[in-house]
Amino acid sequence: MGSSDIVLVVGATGGVGRRVVDVLLKKGLPVRVLARNEEKARKMLGPDIDLIIGDITKESTLLPEYFKGVRKVINAASVIVGPKEGDTPERAKYSQGIKFFEPEIKGDSPEMVEFVGMRNLINAVKGSVGLRNGKLIFGCEDNGFRDLAWGALDDVVMGGVSESTFLIDTTGGEKGEPTGLFKGTVSTTNNGGFTSIRTRNFSVPEDLSAYDGLELHLKGDGRRYKLIVRTSRDWDTVGYTASFDTTEGQWQSICLPFSSFIPVFRARTISDAPPFDPSSIISLQLMFSKFEYDGKLNPTFVEGPFQLPVSSIRTFIKDPVTPRFVHVSSAGVTRPDRPGLDLSKQPPAVRLNKELDFILTFKLKGEDLIRESGIPYAIVRPCALTEEPAGADLIFDQGDNITGKISREEVARICVAALESPYACDKTFEVKSVIPFSEPFTVDLENPPQEKDYEMYFKDLKDGITGKELLEQSPVPV
Ligand SMILES: NC(=O)c1ccc[n+]([C@@H]2O[C@H](COP(=O)([O-])OP(=O)(O)OC[C@H]3O[C@@H](n4cnc5c(N)ncnc54)[C@H](OP(=O)(O)O)[C@@H]3O)[C@@H](O)[C@H]2O)c1
Repeated sequence: MGSSDIVLVVGATGGVGRRVVDVLLKKGLPVRVLARNEEKARKMLGPDIDLIIGDITKESTLLPEYFKGVRKVINAASVIVGPKEGDTPERAKYSQGIKFFEPEIKGDSPEMVEFVGMRNLINAVKGSVGLRNGKLIFGCEDNGFRDLAWGALDDVVMGGVSESTFLIDTTGGEKGEPTGLFKGTVSTTNNGGFTSIRTRNFSVPEDLSAYDGLELHLKGDGRRYKLIVRTSRDWDTVGYTASFDTTEGQWQSICLPFSSFIPVFRARTISDAPPFDPSSIISLQLMFSKFEYDGKLNPTFVEGPFQLPVSSIRTFIKDPVTPRFVHVSSAGVTRPDRPGLDLSKQPPAVRLNKELDFILTFKLKGEDLIRESGIPYAIVRPCALTEEPAGADLIFDQGDNITGKISREEVARICVAALESPYACDKTFEVKSVIPFSEPFTVDLENPPQEKDYEMYFKDLKDGITGKELLEQSPVPV
C-alpha cells in the first residue's frame, strides 16, 4: 500500500472498529473514519482523527468527496443489538456477550444496515478503491459499448500529408464483437511523419488513481505506437506518453503501468514536469509516428497504410491483488435456513434470527453484495466476540460450521493483516480462538504474546467456499 493510500474504517465507534483504527494508526497508516456521531467519534478516537460524518443507510450522506484518496475499506459497521431491558452507557451487558441477555434490535433494521447500508457503502467507495477487472474506458463490456469522441490529429497541422481516422468496426473484434479501428496512411512528405487520434476532453475528468495502469486490447501489426494521456484541459500541453510494440497479426493485451508514462511536449521529454497524476485524466491520444522522443526514431516506422484494431482500453490492478474491502460479518450467517441443523447447539443469533428481524439473513445478503461487487474483498466472520485480549491460538475455517469465541482485538488485527494479503483476497472465512467459551482468556501484561503471523492462516484459505453450498444443495422454501 502506498503511504498516501487512505484506509477508511466504517463502524469505527464500535467494539471491533475502534480497535481497527488503533491497529492502523500504530502501523502508521493513514486512516479516515466514517461515523454517525461526531462528538462520540472524537471522544473515542481523539480530536484529530480524519473524520467524515455519514450514515450508511442514507445514501445522500455519503458524499463523493469523502472518499477521495481512499484505497481500502474496513467495514465493521453493523446493526445494533442490545438487551431488551436496556444497557449502561458503556454497553456493559453487550460487551459481556449476547448470551447473557435477551437481545433486540436497536435503531435501524438489519435490512437497512446490513443490506441497504452495504449497497450504499459499496456504491460510494467503488470508484476510489477500484475493481478487480479494472474500469472500462473504451470498448465493449457486458453487451454494451463505451465509445469516446475520437478525432484525427495528423501531421497536416505542420504541413504534412499523412491522414488517419477512427471508426467502429461492428464485427471486427477478436470474437466478432465491435472494435475501434485506427487506420490511415502515413507519409514523410513535407517533413511529416505522424498520424494520431485524440479524444475530445472528457467533460468529467477520469479518476483512475485506484489503478496501476492502462491495458489496451488490440490486434497488432508489428509496429510501435504511443499512447498519450493528458491531465490538463489545454490543447497544446504536456502529454504523459508510453510507447508500446505490437506483434503482427495477433490479438494481444498490452499493459502500460502509469509509472511508465513519461512527460513529453512536442516530442521532447520534459524533466521538470509534475509527476503523472492518474486522478484527473482529461484526454487520450493514440499515435503512430516516425519519431520517438528527443529526436530518436521509431525503429518500426514504415510509410504507407496501416490499421490498428483497438477493442478496449481499460485500467488494471497489478498482481498480486490484495483485498480492498475487508468486511466484518458473522459466523452463522448461512445457518438459519440450513437443513438438519440442531438449533439448540447454535449461538443465539442463529436461533433468534427471526426474532432479530432476520439479522443473519441480511448479513448474508450484505456479504453477497460485496462478493458480487467486483471489488477485491475479504469477508471475516468472527464467532462470538469478547472483550478479552488478543493472543490466544486461533482456528480459521470455511463453510460456516464453527462455534466459539474470539477477542475483538484479535479480529481487528486479522482485518488489518488481511488488507495486505493476496491469500485473503476474495475469501470468506470464519475465525475463533481455541479457548472454550467457558474458559476466560487472559495474558500476562508484562510479557504479552507476540503478534501473530496471520499469513500462515490466510495461506490455507480456498476460493468459493461460503457455507451457502449446503443451502444450494437442498434449497429451503422461502
Ligand atoms: N457480538 C458478537 O458476539 C458478534 C459475533 C459475531 C459477529 N459479530 C459482528 O461483528 C461486527 C462488529 O461487532 P462490534 O461488536 O464491533 O459491533 P458494535 O460495537 O455494535 O459496532 C457497530 C458499529 O456500527 C456503526 N453503525 C451502526 N449503524 C450504522 C450506520 N447506519 N451508519 C454508519 N455506522 C453505523 C455503529 O455506530 P454508532 O457508534 O454510531 O452506533 C458502531 O460504530 C458486527 O457486524 C457484528 O454483528 C458480532
